[in-house]
Amino acid sequence: MSATITSIAHYVPPDVYPNSYFENYLDTSDEWITSRTGIKERRFAKSGATSDLIIPAAKECIERRGIDMQEIDCILVPTVTPDYFFPSTACIVQNKLGINNVWGFDISAACSSFIFGLATATKLVESGLSKKLLLCGADKMSSILNLNDRNQAVLFGDGAGVALIEQSNDPELGILDSIMYINGEGQPALNMPAGGSAKPATIETVKNNEHYIHQDGQTVFKAAVKGMADVSVDIMKKNGITSKELNWLVPHQANLRIINATADRMELEREKVMINIDKYGNTTAGTIPICLSEWNAAGNISKGDRLVLSSFGAGYTWGSIYMRWNMND
Ligand code: ACO
Repeated sequence: MSATITSIAHYVPPDVYPNSYFENYLDTSDEWITSRTGIKERRFAKSGATSDLIIPAAKECIERRGIDMQEIDCILVPTVTPDYFFPSTACIVQNKLGINNVWGFDISAACSSFIFGLATATKLVESGLSKKLLLCGADKMSSILNLNDRNQAVLFGDGAGVALIEQSNDPELGILDSIMYINGEGQPALNMPAGGSAKPATIETVKNNEHYIHQDGQTVFKAAVKGMADVSVDIMKKNGITSKELNWLVPHQANLRIINATADRMELEREKVMINIDKYGNTTAGTIPICLSEWNAAGNISKGDRLVLSSFGAGYTWGSIYMRWNMND
């Protein structure tokens, strides 16, 4: 038995912020941002919370599958920007969608949240604990971004991707394997210093900008290049797939140079790599499902296609999933 994605949709807020937006008030340039990151523009939500990014994508995802909303029996929300510490964003999404008889929870693994969520969803569906699971990878990164710091302001964006996970009607297709890791030694290089129990919010923490992302970019960059490339190659080897046989790499979109380094290690042509970082920046838990949704909507993924999904993020957290595309239709 295997589980599979049976429907997928995404939502990004309408307001586009091109690189030139930052040139107006920060010491940066379109040339620097494009050459160092691959990002040309991103979307920032002017209002609302992470759940508000999820709702339109969730409705479209369910509608595309043609099922009754009430059939959903589990909601998982991979995110690093939950609406609140508690209750979980899964509860907020449940209430906004008006789904009864459902359970669920949030998953916190920063940029690897969607991969960890998909592996968790797979096991819940394979075990029969859930039959129709809504996996909502979403982040409103603008809510934790210091827009006055050029080291981070230009890197992130807001967006959501929602996938429906069900049992696969063909055990050879669907989500077939995963390799995942965490290593807390990465904590100093990428974190939000205050607001948690280690350093509760005070006037001082607000004054010191400690409720924003703190990132040592170069340290994270080096760890990400190695972590994402290694795990992507390992999952190919473990499943006996060659780069010729692989149809798509779906990488977390943090930096085009990290994506290219991963593809190079996998000996994969660029045409087989899903890349939309130029349009959205790093939407954290949103990047992978947004890619899958866009490529699927464009008719670019076929039944039976072999995909490797890979990520690296704060924690550190990293991992890969091997799947063969099957929308059960
Ligand atoms: N515009 C112009 N100059 C800039 C900008 C900017 N927006 N940002 C930084 N610089 C400057 C720096 O201040 C530095 O200047 P200095 O030499 O005078 O000190 C110079 O550019 C070079 O800085 P580096 O840090 O060496 O630049 P680098 O090539 O490493 O790129 C970047 C920085 C884009 C942040 C890169 O390191 C990166 O992508 N890191 C990984 C990000 C990542 O993967 N994060 C994980 C996901 S996030 C999550 O999990 C929530």
